[in-house]
Amino acid sequence: PTIYLKNYQAPDYYIETIDLHFELGEKHTTVHSRLALSRHSKADSPSLVLNGEELELLSIKQDGQVLSKKNYYQDSESLTLLQVPDCFTLEIETRIYPQDNTTLSGLYTSSGNFCTQCEAEGFRRITYFLDRPDVMARYTTTIVADEKKYPILLSNGNLIAQGKWDTGRHFAKWQDPFPKPSYLFALVASDLARIEDEFITLSGRKIQLHMYVQPHNQDQCDHAMASLKRAMAWDEQVYGREYDLDIYMIVAVDDFNMGAMENKGLNIFNSKYVLAKPETATDTDYENIEAVIAHEYFHNWSGNRVTCRDWFQLSLKEGFTVFRDQQFSADQGSSAVKRIQVVNHLRSYQFREDAGPMAHPIRPESYVEINNFYTLTIYEKGAEVVRMLYRLLGTEGFRKGTDLYFKRHDGQAVTTDDFVQALEDANNTDFSQFRLWYSQAGTPELRISRIYDPEMSTYTLKVKQTCPPTPEQPHKAPFHIPLAIGLLDAEGRDLPLRLAGEAEAITGTRVLELRQAEETFVFQDIPCKPVPSLLRGFSAPVKLYLGLSNEEYCFLLVHDKDHFNRWEAGQQLAIKILLGLVEDHQQGKPLILDPAFTNTIEKILAGDESDQAFVAQILTLPSEHYLAEFMTVIDPEAAYKARRFLQRGLAEALHSTFTTTYESLAGTSPYHSSPEEIGRRKLRNICLEYLMTLDGPDIKSRCLQQFNESDNMTDVIAALSSLADTESSERKIALQAFYNQWKNDSLVMDKWLSLQALSRRQDTLTIVKKLTQHPAFKLTNPNKVRALIGAFCQGNPVRFHDPSGEGYRFLRDYILKLDPLNPQIAARLASTFNLWRRYDQNRQIIMKEQLEHIVNSPRISKDVYEITTKALG
Ligand code: ARG
Ligand code: ZN
Repeated sequence: PTIYLKNYQAPDYYIETIDLHFELGEKHTTVHSRLALSRHSKADSPSLVLNGEELELLSIKQDGQVLSKKNYYQDSESLTLLQVPDCFTLEIETRIYPQDNTTLSGLYTSSGNFCTQCEAEGFRRITYFLDRPDVMARYTTTIVADEKKYPILLSNGNLIAQGKWDTGRHFAKWQDPFPKPSYLFALVASDLARIEDEFITLSGRKIQLHMYVQPHNQDQCDHAMASLKRAMAWDEQVYGREYDLDIYMIVAVDDFNMGAMENKGLNIFNSKYVLAKPETATDTDYENIEAVIAHEYFHNWSGNRVTCRDWFQLSLKEGFTVFRDQQFSADQGSSAVKRIQVVNHLRSYQFREDAGPMAHPIRPESYVEINNFYTLTIYEKGAEVVRMLYRLLGTEGFRKGTDLYFKRHDGQAVTTDDFVQALEDANNTDFSQFRLWYSQAGTPELRISRIYDPEMSTYTLKVKQTCPPTPEQPHKAPFHIPLAIGLLDAEGRDLPLRLAGEAEAITGTRVLELRQAEETFVFQDIPCKPVPSLLRGFSAPVKLYLGLSNEEYCFLLVHDKDHFNRWEAGQQLAIKILLGLVEDHQQGKPLILDPAFTNTIEKILAGDESDQAFVAQILTLPSEHYLAEFMTVIDPEAAYKARRFLQRGLAEALHSTFTTTYESLAGTSPYHSSPEEIGRRKLRNICLEYLMTLDGPDIKSRCLQQFNESDNMTDVIAALSSLADTESSERKIALQAFYNQWKNDSLVMDKWLSLQALSRRQDTLTIVKKLTQHPAFKLTNPNKVRALIGAFCQGNPVRFHDPSGEGYRFLRDYILKLDPLNPQIAARLASTFNLWRRYDQNRQIIMKEQLEHIVNSPRISKDVYEITTKALG
């Protein structure tokens, strides 16, 4: 059953208030709910359909009268009341089984504690309700539970009553003053420890900040708490948004399908995005925690105060909030590096989604299972679309727009169109063509040709835009695209840019607004042939085909004042070289290294660039995934071989530079997580990675030494990952030592699983299969599944795509094992097969067999069914 945007209808009934009463038990839980309903549209039919799944219905009362079986009927997804008045109260009692709930949707237990996940449609697994975001109610929630087992009882809003009975049970009553959709409901009952802090808002209100974690993790909350306070201050300064309740709570749980959830006043987090201390968390973990904490906090306005009308509007809150968290992170450290990481991620993963069978616009037209649409497209491309609006309006104009958006729609459930409309109205501008970014899927391609005319001193850019067909969208209209550019003179300075007909030139980066399939821009007074720096800062989520020479790329890599484009020049040059190597490998020719590339890399390493994280980014070669983007038939083996050859070639040629850089960057204890220190470690560890490709005995023991002597997980993991790739005795020693030291720390064990799954050793699949039987692995824990199976199948292309098909069959088995337990996670794994048509015949046949096997298996979930049938096409 496919759901369509075009069929959207406002609900017949609104629910003003909901009074919930939970009796939490060890075998089952009873939920009593009292709803105040009122008809909103003219009576079409006298009946009312409520959503509900996996519920045992105990009783229903309509205005105090018990309803008998002939007044309603039930199926596996709904409850229909046959005769209801325009305005009435409904009381429903249901029984649920949170302890047996492995889907991690609705109410479930994790490490013995109760918690909820209601987005997108989990609330209907708690009680019958109009479980859709445009139904916004005021919630009062009473939780009753055993006092010893569950001393902490939490829900949204403010605590208004609590007490205990001599039966050993106690209760807490919470009230949320803000009307909210059911997906923002949360409940926690636990024996977690509380860490307290506070924040004073700009207007002087004192907010209690409470973080709940397992008692032994209390020493791992400082970073998350500090991040939260920075995020709160940032949203006041940058967006004028203050927090609105008196208390903000964050609960960390080990079993969680995604990263975290922005429930009103009571965020629930995957513990991976809360807990950190230097000995157990890497710099990347620190950065991710800061970003996710900020993301969920920012949702309080972009998501909660203003929410989505329906799930087709998901990017309204997610795209905007990701953009906001990216801006925040950029402000905390190196903004160039943050931008590079964001673009790298987008191009390696979102571009493939946009090129495959699941391609969809950031506002999809239809879905079968909404959980399958929490995608890179909705989130990351959605953020790029908001970023383009930001660029087109400028900082001030954009702020005027968001101010109007928050003011106009506070307390409402709205659409992406309302968002764009507010930006237009506040700036008196027209984004009608821009809106195509919301309705058309696919990654636009820009093909640019350039002509310099020395006689006329003009420089002409001819820009052609196209967008490949995607499912249900064979033809696309041209997009409105901001193309940020600069033209560099021979010294590497930006030339002033003036188009024909303009009075004055613009110095520095200038934004061209593309609107047509083909456009020509003629720049005047260009004294000499410039080197073009186009799509600066990655000003639009497009593929650029410009075809610069190697010399031009090297020039930009050294001179461009746009940091993003400096890095990009290096990447494009590396891609060009790697694709050449891929071809040579395929034709059985010997591989040869281009000395110009080596020289440029050496120049940068020896240069005076002070942002060491940025230098490390430049040294990082394009991933095998991104390289695959450029191959008509993806050849994972050749991609791996070519990349490895280039790494090793650079390591050989620059051996002494890498060695001196590595040694000179040795840090001093204790560990700091400042951006400078993060940059230093990053640069040092990339030097180590290069040196380790040479496989010499000295460097291996140096690597083992780093592993043994480091006081922080960043340096330990860097050393261990490199060792895990080797066949050495050092590898065995280090993996065993690491296991012995950290076997009781679940999050650290995830790293141990991952780095073994990511090893390019020949026997990795055999090792991974063994690890699925290891006590450190658990099929019901999504972090474990991602760390081991996800890492192998999605992060180790050369081993996963082994031509024998072993990897494919392994994945198929796990999809089918997981599906009955947790369909959301099974579907994520299933999407690994999405690009099967891009591989050679042999691989295509085997992948297709697995997909068919899955589709033909009995009782597969909607989630997996949608992904696999779309993949088969
Ligand atoms: N709204 C959450 C976030 O991005 C994501 C939760 C989605 N969960 C799900 N099971 N679909 O912050
Ligand atoms: Zn979000």
